[in-house]
Amino acid sequence: MQIAIDGPAGSGKSTVAKIVAKKFNFVYVDTGAMYRAVTLYAKINQIDYEDEQEISEKIPLISLNFIPADPVQKVILNDQDVTEAIRSQEITNNVSLVSSYQKVRDEMTERQRQMTENSSVVMDGRDIGTTVLPNADVKIFLIASVDQRAIRRFKENKAQGSSATLDDIKKEIVARDYKDSHRLISPLRKDDDAIEIDTSNLTVDQVVNKILKIVKTRA
Ligand code: CDP
Ligand code: CDP
Repeated sequence: MQIAIDGPAGSGKSTVAKIVAKKFNFVYVDTGAMYRAVTLYAKINQIDYEDEQEISEKIPLISLNFIPADPVQKVILNDQDVTEAIRSQEITNNVSLVSSYQKVRDEMTERQRQMTENSSVVMDGRDIGTTVLPNADVKIFLIASVDQRAIRRFKENKAQGSSATLDDIKKEIVARDYKDSHRLISPLRKDDDAIEIDTSNLTVDQVVNKILKIVKTRA
């Protein structure tokens, strides 16, 4: 069973994907964390984010592992726990550029498909329904107003002690949405057979229940 959940930043993908995966005991794959880890690899190794060639050449040296843990899955990059480091503002600001590179996308797509070989998955990202798992049993496309998404991120960041203003966050989200949906390779887009859910005025539980109902009709 493959469940693909796509959508822009703050639409609620990872929150609901984790809950749905737990309900069915499926593996949860956070593909955004993979692109964030590649971006962090460039930072750690002092490779310019603009240097597509160098990043593309280094891709085979990047080992990525996910360790299930509550409340967040641990992300291991070449034996180092980078769970928190991949969420920094610098990585968030540069991940759309790094994930627009052909070699980066080809390699991550290949690794994501391998993760579905022996298990049922809930996979979230931007191009899961359109590119990574075009034959997924269920395709969900989550959307929400940019104001709502910015407020959600603002609350999360504030709880973690960040001083970023609501306006800063809104600008960052708008810029990332634009880059993610206008890149040439596998842009963020709703696949024709994906079911769109606007989460602006829904609670997490309401979104999860909608998805569970859809999954049950396809199982
Ligand atoms: O959690 P948030 O919505 O902030 O972003 P994420 O899911 O961690 O993804 C970070 C970035 O990785 C996105 O803005 C995209 O640039 C890229 N990404 C992608 O290109 N393709 C995916 N399947 C997942 C993420
Ligand atoms: O993965 P994505 O960037 O799409 O969103 P997320 O990281 O799951 O963040 C969404 C935030 O909004 C979390 O703090 C959720 O608790 C909250 N939220 C939600 O996900 N869905 C709703 N329907 C309402 C709130």
